[in-house]
Amino acid sequence: MARDKAGMLSCRALRKTYQTSRGPVDAVRGINLDVSAGDYLALIGRSGSGKSTLMAMFGGLSHPSAGSLLVDGADIWSLGENAMARFRNKRIGYIFQFASLLPSLRAIDNVVLPALLGRYDATADSYKRAARLLTELGLGSHFDAYPSEMSAGEQRRTVIARALINDPVLLLADEPTSDLDVETESEIMALLRNINRERGTTLILVTHNLALASEAAHVVHIADGTIIP
Ligand SMILES: Nc1ncnc2c1ncn2[C@@H]1O[C@H](COP(=O)(O)OP(=O)(O)O)[C@@H](O)[C@H]1O
Ligand SMILES: [Mg+2]
Repeated sequence: MARDKAGMLSCRALRKTYQTSRGPVDAVRGINLDVSAGDYLALIGRSGSGKSTLMAMFGGLSHPSAGSLLVDGADIWSLGENAMARFRNKRIGYIFQFASLLPSLRAIDNVVLPALLGRYDATADSYKRAARLLTELGLGSHFDAYPSEMSAGEQRRTVIARALINDPVLLLADEPTSDLDVETESEIMALLRNINRERGTTLILVTHNLALASEAAHVVHIADGTIIP
């Protein structure tokens, strides 16, 4: 598989049209974008501008209607189902607005789950890594806590630990703090910034908050499914 080390994500004329009962909806209308490895990019735009649709295509979750997309050198939408599932599990970390922790699992079991699904290493090693990540994220005393026993900020940090467990090359964060109070929001934003700086993980952050976007190395404005210069 060809891999351009400098380019983490590249898309050309990327489009997504949803077929709805009211007719077609052009959510993403021809996006060209290049994101280098290690970059921190913020996508900003009003609600309904197509940000989540774009992120879903980047993350291999929603099939583009047209255009080309390379993620870490891979033409992900041409991969077979299994290769695609492996790619998502191993290379991409997802941090979305609503913490989707499994309520019946302890924090550490939630974090370790993607590692066990991928079976990249022995279970004991995965648990060690999950413990280290939770500790790094300030949850050293919460390994055994169930999601319902944690605050919203603690739950979000657990989601971040889970996103990092397979050491992804790309972190996709879609409005990861919009449901949190201001203090918790800035705490989570600082964590994401540190992950980008210290681990070198490429970070694409979606927000509708200009102040948050301005913390990123690059900011791209999206309106009505296209990038506005
Ligand atoms: N699954 C879907 N089916 C039909 N239309 C959708 C779907 N998801 C999003 N849309 C529409 O696509 C447009 C972009 O939505 P979205 O990508 O969620 O924007 P944003 O994340 O910027 O708020 C909106 O008009 C929205 O109503
Ligand atoms: Mg959205």
